[in-house]
Amino acid sequence: MATPFYITTPIYYVNALPHLGTFYTTVVADALARFHRAVGDDTFFLTGLDEHGQKIERIARERGVEPQVYCDGIAAEFQKTWARMGVSNDDFIRTTSARHKKAVAEMWARMHASGDIYPAEYDGMYCVGCEDWKSEDDVVLDGDEKICPIHRRPVERVKEKNWFFRLSRYADYLLELYDRPGFIRPESRRNEVASFVRGGLKDISVSRMKKSVSWGIPVPGDDDHVIYVWIDALTNYLTVLGGPEAVAQPGPARTRWEAAHHLIAKDILRFHAVYWPAMLKSANLPPPAGIFCHGYLTVKGQKISKSMPATKVDPVMIAEDLGVEPLRYFVLREYSLGGDGDFTYEALLQRYESELGNDLGNLLNRTVSMARQYLGGTIAKSDGDLLGGDLHARATEVRNAWTSFQPSIALDLIWSCVRDTNAHIETRKPWVEFKQLGGAGTQDTLAYCCGWLRAIAKMIHPAMPETARNILRQLGRDSREAETWIADSSGLELFWPGNDRPMDAPQPLFPRLDPDRKAALIAKWMPAATPVSPAPTEPGKTTATPSAATADGIDKADFDRAELRAAKVVACERVPKTEKLLKLTLDIGTEQRTVISGIAAAYAPEALIGRTVIYVANLKPAKIRGVLSQGMILAAGDADVLALAALDRDVAPGTRIR
Ligand code: ME8
Ligand code: MG
Repeated sequence: MATPFYITTPIYYVNALPHLGTFYTTVVADALARFHRAVGDDTFFLTGLDEHGQKIERIARERGVEPQVYCDGIAAEFQKTWARMGVSNDDFIRTTSARHKKAVAEMWARMHASGDIYPAEYDGMYCVGCEDWKSEDDVVLDGDEKICPIHRRPVERVKEKNWFFRLSRYADYLLELYDRPGFIRPESRRNEVASFVRGGLKDISVSRMKKSVSWGIPVPGDDDHVIYVWIDALTNYLTVLGGPEAVAQPGPARTRWEAAHHLIAKDILRFHAVYWPAMLKSANLPPPAGIFCHGYLTVKGQKISKSMPATKVDPVMIAEDLGVEPLRYFVLREYSLGGDGDFTYEALLQRYESELGNDLGNLLNRTVSMARQYLGGTIAKSDGDLLGGDLHARATEVRNAWTSFQPSIALDLIWSCVRDTNAHIETRKPWVEFKQLGGAGTQDTLAYCCGWLRAIAKMIHPAMPETARNILRQLGRDSREAETWIADSSGLELFWPGNDRPMDAPQPLFPRLDPDRKAALIAKWMPAATPVSPAPTEPGKTTATPSAATADGIDKADFDRAELRAAKVVACERVPKTEKLLKLTLDIGTEQRTVISGIAAAYAPEALIGRTVIYVANLKPAKIRGVLSQGMILAAGDADVLALAALDRDVAPGTRIR
């Protein structure tokens, strides 16, 4: 019976479209799934979306649409993008689907039946960005405000009667589980989680009152509560197998579940390594086979995230200009899975040119050219043992690297095969062999190159499926061969089996980029630079950039680039040692923003609290008197402010103004 292998990505929040961070996890999972399919494992690859919770509810409200309508729109975009990126998921889970709601209700019932769900009063803090409860140790003080250090915004006070989960009961179970070799990888993460658990576990609140959060799955038998979004989200991994009840029975769902590997980044390690196995144990279900936690991709040292525009790297745009597969190759090869890694466009283009273009592209190109020139495009089956032992040894190493979640090592090993085959051509010099002995003199050398290229195609297929098929096609073989791994030592696979049809003229795998083109690509991909002289202290000056203006006025599209929104002032104070500046905290519907505004001469801070103002939401942030000012508010007057722009009736914070 085939070995089962089940790989998952996190289900991403629908508060953003795919970005390089989510692309990374998804491509790693895809490559692993493709590898396991190639070696014949019974493979199942799951990705999907996390659609419930306060964060999503607020965004939908801000956009003025029903949450479900909002989620449907984002879900369609994700599915389109993943398909475009060659992601071969076997299922796509959405937490708003009926099958998932059923699975979560089952999970709740099973945990409840174990006596682990009980009512109690929650009085504490919550970060909507994290969708997580916060203790005093988790927050930092900014003035007298408590801030979530991850999302850099104030936490919210929550005081509710909720349902709690008896997490504290599972500390010993968890510590024992972490001792299983490979349950949490890398080892450093295992130690981190184990010491967290040893520090003591508190029970957690696992529901929210419907009147504060309504976008969620109802608590069975309690109309006033919805289930906490993480309990809902984690259960997705069982939903696609038929849900907790299906997994509880012996059978295919159970077998697959016991082979589950969760690929995640360190931001959500605690949920996966602490909450999740405890929930499963409480529900009388086995743990997954393992959790593999990778690091963060950063840009200039800053974590790539949707809330940090300066770190925006758009995989879709890069893929359009350079191809999907070079980007897949780059992220798999550049970062060793587990550590953090910085992203630069220069490094991407560097690997594109040297490893993809010069090493691999060139090897195929010269092999096919010589095969055509010297042997009419047909290289006969090689009967010697030109490849045998060496290929077998190297393919085994590559296989071990894929098996142990080390894509960058796998690719590095494959590239040593690429370089060695190129070196073989330099040593044998088929052009000399041809001169001395004619076409037949080149047969062995070219069969050797074709044999290696065929093996290389099979080995790179998990990372670059289309490139792998393309190589085989150009070698005159069936491109579907790419999908199966190299047979083991006994197989004839270790030789060149000959081509099925004569080779056509070679097509470059990775076309060359001239220096102008490279510079143009980088300029296009880079997010706009931060302005040198920001203007947020100067309310009243709201004109569009002069370049956009013409004698007839600016285009509607130019005006629309400014994102004006209603914002409610929730706090306001003077900036010390200044006369003109106030620091405002604005509620913009989805989050809070800080703005420094030069209106202190015209307005007392207390007079502004509770008022709705007009806020320019997409102005580049600027540091003013040591405070990061995120945007500006509109006011009349020039250097001296006369009046704030206002709306003539109240609208919800975040409402767009046009
Ligand atoms: O946390 N570097 O969703 P999310 C590497 N819905 N990986 C990154 C990354 C970066 N800079 N940024 C994001 C959630 N990721 C929950 C998950 S699962 C039951 C629920 C990847 O949209 C990485 O895999 O915030 C990280 O763990 C995940 O996106 C977080 O996605
Ligand atoms: Mg996140």
